[in-house]
Amino acid sequence: MAVANFRKAAMIGCGFVGSASVYSLMQGSVFSEIVLIDANKDKAEGEALDISHGLPFAKPMKIYAGDYPDLADAGLIIISAGANQKPGETRLDLVKKNTAIFKSIIPQIVKYNKDAILLVVANPVDILTQVALKLSGFPKNRVLGSGTTLDSARFKYLLGQHLGVDARSVHAFIIGEHGDSEIAAWSSANVSGVPIHKFCEMRGYTDHDAETTRIAEEVKNSAYEIIKKKGATYYGIGMSVRRICEAIVRDEKSILPVSTYIEGKYGLDGVCLSMPTIVGADGVDTLIPYELSEQELAQLHKSADTLKSVLKDAGI
Ligand SMILES: NC(=O)c1ccc[n+]([C@@H]2O[C@H](COP(=O)([O-])OP(=O)(O)OC[C@H]3O[C@@H](n4cnc5c(N)ncnc54)[C@H](O)[C@@H]3O)[C@@H](O)[C@H]2O)c1
Repeated sequence: MAVANFRKAAMIGCGFVGSASVYSLMQGSVFSEIVLIDANKDKAEGEALDISHGLPFAKPMKIYAGDYPDLADAGLIIISAGANQKPGETRLDLVKKNTAIFKSIIPQIVKYNKDAILLVVANPVDILTQVALKLSGFPKNRVLGSGTTLDSARFKYLLGQHLGVDARSVHAFIIGEHGDSEIAAWSSANVSGVPIHKFCEMRGYTDHDAETTRIAEEVKNSAYEIIKKKGATYYGIGMSVRRICEAIVRDEKSILPVSTYIEGKYGLDGVCLSMPTIVGADGVDTLIPYELSEQELAQLHKSADTLKSVLKDAGI
């Protein structure tokens, strides 16, 4: 296997999510080169120009519109191409449309590059990660989805606001599907080692059932609310993409809730979903044995079943 060139990334799909992600990657100087590919060539060219005009205020790098042959020497290929949710539409409603798009994109990737890491961002992200894995034939560690990285960021943000503490000091994960069956893993949530309920009590909150339900619902409904108000979500996911890319490029071995193919862990098999995972230069390193309560484990199985029935209905 060739050594991955982490100086270069590709973004396939340059809509709201693709362009916000590239903008964030540019600001973080994560790569020296990013090629933008979109079915709408003008869109890719326009975004490449617009984002490049910020370079004098950042660090030198090449950002340009290209085509599939430009993937040949990219170490990381990010896929955000696909329709987004319309108001009232669930992520799972997008399955048919976006699976068809992936059937046109993945063979093109494989034609020019068999060594890259694939990062799937388009929705429904867990299903499409599994589609990308199947169609590419890449090893499981090299195909991952952004999963619940964004949901977990929303969770930390809301908990930080609620508890009057830096969101970076909150250690908490949303697990399972990036979608309606996702689970807030409260039992292991903590603020720098202080169990979450204890920290809540320190701040004067004692009605745990009401507060946890409210916050978990708010996380789950964030995308619906933003889409209703402004049509699409893209800044939060742009930062999430950057965070995952940094972990890979710098071989950080960071623990992130990315969507990966689960085999024999947590009693699950044959489905892509998010659990806290060590992420580094090989993509997925390993899942960590995250502590879940019995109820959370049961919810995780339910979430996996939801995804499996979608996979089955879609013939994946
Ligand atoms: N994973 C997450 O947390 C998360 C968050 C927000 C949005 N999303 C998803 O990201 C996807 C993109 O959302 P968006 O708001 O950027 O949509 P958008 O409509 O703004 O952009 C989609 C882009 O994909 C391009 N495209 C379509 N078919 C293509 C093909 N075959 N090849 C190349 N390009 C193609 C379109 O031309 C368009 O520019 C959606 O599926 C959305 O649901 C995921």
